[in-house]
Amino acid sequence: HRTLRGHTTIRATMVSVSSALSPPITTQILPVALSDIDFPRDADMPNIPQSSVTYTNLHRAADMIRNHIAPVAFPTETVYGLGASALSTTAVRQIFAAKNRPLDNPLIVHISSVSQLRRVLHTKIPGIYEPLIQKFWPGPLTIILPLPDPIRNEDGVETPAISPACTPGQNTFGVRMPSHPVARALIAITDTPIAAPSANASSRPSPTTAMHVYTDMAGRIPLILDGGACNVGLESTVVDGTVSPPAILRPGGVSIEEIRKYGGPFWKDVVTGKSEAGQDEKVRTPGMKYRHYSPKAKVVVILGQRDGSDGEIVRYIRGLSGDLKIGVLPSRLFNLDCWDEEIKKKICVVKKLGKSGADISRNLFAHLREVDEAGVDLIIVEGVGEEDEGAAIMNRLRKAATEILD
Ligand code: TXA
Ligand code: MG
Repeated sequence: HRTLRGHTTIRATMVSVSSALSPPITTQILPVALSDIDFPRDADMPNIPQSSVTYTNLHRAADMIRNHIAPVAFPTETVYGLGASALSTTAVRQIFAAKNRPLDNPLIVHISSVSQLRRVLHTKIPGIYEPLIQKFWPGPLTIILPLPDPIRNEDGVETPAISPACTPGQNTFGVRMPSHPVARALIAITDTPIAAPSANASSRPSPTTAMHVYTDMAGRIPLILDGGACNVGLESTVVDGTVSPPAILRPGGVSIEEIRKYGGPFWKDVVTGKSEAGQDEKVRTPGMKYRHYSPKAKVVVILGQRDGSDGEIVRYIRGLSGDLKIGVLPSRLFNLDCWDEEIKKKICVVKKLGKSGADISRNLFAHLREVDEAGVDLIIVEGVGEEDEGAAIMNRLRKAATEILD
């Protein structure tokens, strides 16, 4: 396995993409060290030693974003993002092209401080969000805000405060302040709100390492900042407090229980959004209607461990006919040590997800990718209960799965 320390330049060899970014481009992976960045919660700018590689690489990425040259991939605490200026339609379109993302799926705008949100996006924050911002920003929480009024120049000409390409068909936008020092520093240095979806190719599992991004994006983007593996591993929680009762549009890095606990009286009644949407349906979380998080192999999620045993999966594997190559991602109950030889013989890769919600979240996308790369036909994943991190884990698994057994 190649290590990504030092300045790694890789020429992408396989470029067969229908991307707007032609001719083929070289994708560089540039290291950044979290330990070089000091960014106190209430500061507007980070302290980074100017002599560090981190400083140089952050500024290269920032120039690329400021000058709308191309989107840049960067680490956040949730997953890697693919960022461009949220103020420029040209720049935002480059994100959609690189990812092959459906144009009606809105992007989250990332900011480095609340003062930047007020100053650059001319946004007032409804009081309902105050306790959540106080508790969870910077961090894995996205809030939905009404679109700001257009900005009027001296000649009376109006331009939208955020590129409409970020918010297709919506009169709201999603915004979050990431806690990852690299993400926050990049936004502060560019002094620009950055629109950033997850940096995977559309429909693939979200990337939690620079190498995952490289696998999906080589030849499509020029730069990946490598800040190591993401700590949360699943995307941010998206909450909408502009409606009554307030709603969770996507479970993620902040749990529903935490929103209820720390949100104050309004968030006690928070409802969870619809989890499915038809192709033509206009929905509040437009991303929901698309295929998501899909490895090449078929994914089966098994929930049937209510009796505290893993008999269900053993029966399932026994019932499979043919010479399928099987990968298994166990978490809390599947105990492969106890399975008989006949069953074990059928399994070619096992990657443990962990026992705690935090571990399972952190490992899920990475393990799906890894087992997929082993060339299996079928990935069997142990489902979990929906409490705490479980809601976000099961939300991603339901979208990745072709079959769910409970
Ligand atoms: O953790 C994250 O949120 C990551 C990192 C990179 O910050 N970003 C991310 O972006 O997950 P993306 O594009 O993969 O997911 C954006 C989703 C949309 O599919 C939609 O569900 C929701 O956020 N969203 C964004 N803007 C919205 C809006 N105005 N109204 C409703 N939902 C919105
Ligand atoms: Mg995504």
